[in-house]
Amino acid sequence: MPDRRPDKERIWIIGASDGIGAALAWAYARRGAQLILSARNEDRLEDLAAVLPCETAVVPVDVADRLSLSQAQATLQAMGPLDRVINMAALYDPGQVEVLDPAKAAQIVNVNLTGSLYVAQTALPLLRQGGQLALCGSVAGYFGLPQGQIYSATKAGVANLAESLRAELAGRVDVRLISPGFVDTRLTQKNAFAMPGLMTPEDAAEAITYQLDRNRFEVHFPRRLTLALKLLRALPYRLALPLTKRLVR
Ligand SMILES: NC(=O)c1ccc[n+]([C@@H]2O[C@H](COP(=O)([O-])OP(=O)(O)OC[C@H]3O[C@@H](n4cnc5c(N)ncnc54)[C@H](OP(=O)(O)O)[C@@H]3O)[C@@H](O)[C@H]2O)c1
Repeated sequence: MPDRRPDKERIWIIGASDGIGAALAWAYARRGAQLILSARNEDRLEDLAAVLPCETAVVPVDVADRLSLSQAQATLQAMGPLDRVINMAALYDPGQVEVLDPAKAAQIVNVNLTGSLYVAQTALPLLRQGGQLALCGSVAGYFGLPQGQIYSATKAGVANLAESLRAELAGRVDVRLISPGFVDTRLTQKNAFAMPGLMTPEDAAEAITYQLDRNRFEVHFPRRLTLALKLLRALPYRLALPLTKRLVR
């Protein structure tokens, strides 16, 4: 996809204030890209921008708020066309279905799923012809697992949305889906179970930057976990559901 040299790319990373998004900012900064960093917490973004070894602008955004994205769009329009937009923003709140707070559940849908659509709409006029739009799903979206909750459902929705956009925008925008396994961030620190194949945010960022430079629609890692879950997804329900029932805690 790169048209511009990697050291000259202009990249908008949303969800850059922490976790994998912040690690991605470091990875692209080391290549000399020009970065626009977004999330809700402006102070954290400014702290990161101050230490990154590249040209960086901070544009605070709430992806669940269409007006906030429209304002960001106007700011970014003045900076020139983008080569990539990578949306890592998401919320996660694990718990049993009976105790899940309905307001929090609605917020998770708004940020993770509706927010992904809003980001796509906002990004289109900003991306150069053939530029890249990467939305973040998860292996949690491959198949409904017990205690998976609304987070997993939103990630299945993001994958579906990315598939639709990939077809709809073919020839105009290089749409990608990022499906990480378990990565050690504040998000997974909420998990009370052992996470197979747990990776550092830096290793996750390396896998993402490497795979986004290649041609495959889906960026997924670590393969040992993602391929096993893809196999589960491919099974008929009569075989898959008895397996997932065993995971009930
Ligand atoms: N960690 C994992 O194991 C894992 C596995 C699979 C998929 N993922 C996905 O990877 C992505 C990054 O996750 P992470 O683990 O790095 O999580 P994280 O450390 O919690 O980072 C999430 C980022 O999203 C931002 N954000 C949250 N709500 C937002 C909103 N309404 N508007 C704009 N930005 C918002 C946060 O910043 P502010 O709070 O400042 O807004 C933060 O920068 C997410 O999409 C997550 O679902 C993670």
